[in-house]
Amino acid sequence: MKKDIIDRNDIVLLVDSFYQKVQQNERIGPIFTQVMQVDWAHHLPKMYDFWESILFGKAIYKGNPMLTHFDINKKASLKNEEFDTWKNIFFNTVDELFEGENATVIKQKAQSIADLMHFKLNSPKSKINIV
Ligand code: HEM
Repeated sequence: MKKDIIDRNDIVLLVDSFYQKVQQNERIGPIFTQVMQVDWAHHLPKMYDFWESILFGKAIYKGNPMLTHFDINKKASLKNEEFDTWKNIFFNTVDELFEGENATVIKQKAQSIADLMHFKLNSPKSKINIV
């Protein structure tokens, strides 16, 4: 039986595994590696903080993901296919490594944040940059 996500070490394993798969993905990998040329040493710790804040309610992540993704969306359009790919990789990574209540919750949170982000990026208001 797999274990549940219980601490930052688990989040680190999840995030590292997720972005390894993301980088290899044909549809969204290039957005990270070529379009945005992500500095992984900077991005990964930020994502550990983000998910620790979301899952364990610790206010350690400081940032504005919506603004970041508005910027990305100007350079590489983020539509259904990109969000479906992102969500599939995220869910598969969680399921490969973990099971339990927190594993379920993190997938639900990812789903709702992704759907809200997708909606905001593609709603008419976003054309005039009102977040
Ligand atoms: C198609 C889907 C997505 C793509 C292609 C994408 C791409 C990216 C890229 C390239 C960055 C790094 C930007 C940089 O370093 O300049 C980034 C940052 C980030 N992403 Fe995403 N993302 C997607 C969906 C999501 C979703 C669904 C979430 C949350 C559930 C998320 C959370 C974040 C966060 C928290 C950051 C860091 C923002 C900051 O504080 O700078 N992303 N994303």
